[in-house]
Amino acid sequence: MIFYFSGTGNSKWVAEQLAKKTNDKARDMMSTNQDSLTKEEVIGIVFPIYAWSPPEPVIDFVKTLQASGKFTFGIGTCADEAGLAMEQLQKHFPLNSSYSIKMPNNYIIASNVESDEVIKGKIKKAEVQLDLIAEEIRSRKSVSRITKGKMATLKSSVIAFGFNKFGRTTKPFKVTDACVGCSQCATTCPAKTIEMIDGKPKWQENCYQCLKCIHTCPAQAIEYGKGTVGRKRYDLERYL
Ligand SMILES: Cc1cc2nc3c(=O)[nH]c(=O)nc-3n(C[C@H](O)[C@H](O)[C@H](O)COP(=O)(O)O)c2cc1C
Repeated sequence: MIFYFSGTGNSKWVAEQLAKKTNDKARDMMSTNQDSLTKEEVIGIVFPIYAWSPPEPVIDFVKTLQASGKFTFGIGTCADEAGLAMEQLQKHFPLNSSYSIKMPNNYIIASNVESDEVIKGKIKKAEVQLDLIAEEIRSRKSVSRITKGKMATLKSSVIAFGFNKFGRTTKPFKVTDACVGCSQCATTCPAKTIEMIDGKPKWQENCYQCLKCIHTCPAQAIEYGKGTVGRKRYDLERYL
């Protein structure tokens, strides 16, 4: 079983591709019932890298899993570098294999979406990597192939701490007049942190900052402070 957490679809796509190639199943870890897991021979965990570390719900999820007697692997999808995220995950769930895969950047709070050319290039490279990873999983080969980047220790500790303590605040979320109150953001938020009040979304406190709401709003009406204003949204489907 390959479990994924995904805000904007990259990690979901990676998990589903691998499941197809290894004759396995991919499942959203945010809506998984643990009871059926004991018979699984392989457990894969696929997730986006947030501030060079694993997202909090991924750590919470793996803590509930049993690894003994199974082949386990983890894949962090990231725009550039994973830092020590895979090592951090290992502290909570032992992994036989760890990988990072570069996928299109969705962190539009700090930077623009990449050009179409860069996005298509990353997806193409990922497809090649997934063929190899699938082969390694099928043969139960233990592999570690991670782009950690420079100053990984600092980034995965100090910056990750700052991100989790201060960076995930929901205060800057707002909707523009373009919001039609469709409530899609509220129904699809993985943290279930968006409530519709008087027909408009309101963010409560517990946000993973996956940015699903911003990227998938059909009216493009959601902004996070001034950082996202005028920036393109990312939609993996457009490139597949
Ligand atoms: C809050 C946040 C933090 C991020 N931090 C990193 C990072 O430290 N390194 C990196 O290369 N990409 C980073 N990214 C980019 C994502 O990891 C990348 O786009 C990922 O593939 C998104 O996966 P998803 O579509 O499954 O949500 C970050 C994205 C978000 C939303």
